[in-house]
Amino acid sequence: MSQTYSITSRFEDGAEVQFQCCEDEDILAAALRQDVRLLCQCRKAFCGSCKALCSEGDYELGSRINVQVLPPDEEEDGVVVTCDTYPRSDLILEFPYTSDRLGSMSACEVKANVVSVEKLSATVYRLVLQTLDAEGRPEKFDFVPGQYAEISTSDSPETRAFSLANLPNEDGFLEFLIRLVPGGYYAAYLENRAAAGQTITVRGPFGEFLLRDSHLVEDFRLNETSPECAEPIVFIGGSTGLAPLVSMLRELARRGFAGECHLFFGMQDAATMFYEKELRSLAKSLPGLKLHLALMDPPADWDGYRGNAVAAYKDHFASGISLPKAVYLCGPGPMIDAVLQACAELGVSPDRIHREEFVASGA
Ligand SMILES: Cc1cc2nc3c(=O)[nH]c(=O)nc-3n(C[C@H](O)[C@H](O)[C@H](O)COP(=O)(O)OP(=O)(O)OC[C@H]3O[C@@H](n4cnc5c(N)ncnc54)[C@H](O)[C@@H]3O)c2cc1C
Ligand code: FES
Repeated sequence: MSQTYSITSRFEDGAEVQFQCCEDEDILAAALRQDVRLLCQCRKAFCGSCKALCSEGDYELGSRINVQVLPPDEEEDGVVVTCDTYPRSDLILEFPYTSDRLGSMSACEVKANVVSVEKLSATVYRLVLQTLDAEGRPEKFDFVPGQYAEISTSDSPETRAFSLANLPNEDGFLEFLIRLVPGGYYAAYLENRAAAGQTITVRGPFGEFLLRDSHLVEDFRLNETSPECAEPIVFIGGSTGLAPLVSMLRELARRGFAGECHLFFGMQDAATMFYEKELRSLAKSLPGLKLHLALMDPPADWDGYRGNAVAAYKDHFASGISLPKAVYLCGPGPMIDAVLQACAELGVSPDRIHREEFVASGA
């Protein structure tokens, strides 16, 4: 018979909630089953939103947890990903939020119509959906720039996470930028079957990769007498990691942000580069935005950076001008590691870095 343990959840305001968990049930599932509505999103060990610090007791981490969601230093400190952790004794878990946030997850599941499917480059598609209410009328899908949604086609249970590139709007339009991963389910869907008029299921919004409020204060202006205000905000994107960054930049433009910000965005070559026109148009509505487009293998007439986006970032800030107030980065793991290394070399402190890694999101 399987052993049952007592799990004590502690929150930042000192509140405690207890529930029971069997040795073969993940802690998050046990909590939700007993109506302890801990914050969570993917429930597949890739988003990190269900993490807690285990301050007492023994546990076993599940096989779905990888180093992207739980880096070795966090694992050593006793951080667990509760949706894939199993108790081996009674546990005390410390959650990094106050108890009034319990149950505040507001993700929903809605149907959406495929509006358009467009190949933007050799490796990237733009998929535009429109969410509908129960009567089939366009309905707003609320999200915060930087968040993502999970989508599934009507002919398969496969779901994947994709970040929203546009801003929330009353008509329920959702724009996704999707990379063709060789052999990928969604790659095959976009190349062979996707068409306007199809129905897609959308779940969300999910994610904590958001612009920090302190970077959005409306009176933030470039000001030479105040070094802090002169510090720019930096966005670094690799491939479709551009999507959440574009949504954030659109939000800055919408709010009339007039400070300095930089977007470093790179692709392999002219055939894979995408979204240039949209970025140049965005720069017109966001006067403080400086675009640094990079190609590793550029044509002779390329007037952007020659090399990758991380090198462009490092070169720009190596010259001793003020360091970034914040760095928002999104893309594949190796790019994230390279940016973290560059930030360490430049002296950008880790608490200024906010990141989202596009790991595989299939089951
Ligand atoms: C929070 C989040 C947001 C995301 N947002 C976006 C987005 O806006 N645009 C986008 O293009 N992608 C995004 N991704 C990645 C996306 O969810 C899919 O994993 C990816 O597009 C592959 O889907 P697929 O069905 O084509 O391939 P799959 O059928 O899932 O995978 C095919 C093969 O490729 C491997 N693989 C899949 N994805 C990756 C990866 N990222 N890195 C390394 N190997 C991989 C799989 O392990 C498998 O072996 C996001 C991922 C996360 C976690
Ligand atoms: S809910 Fe556990 S990692 Fe996403």
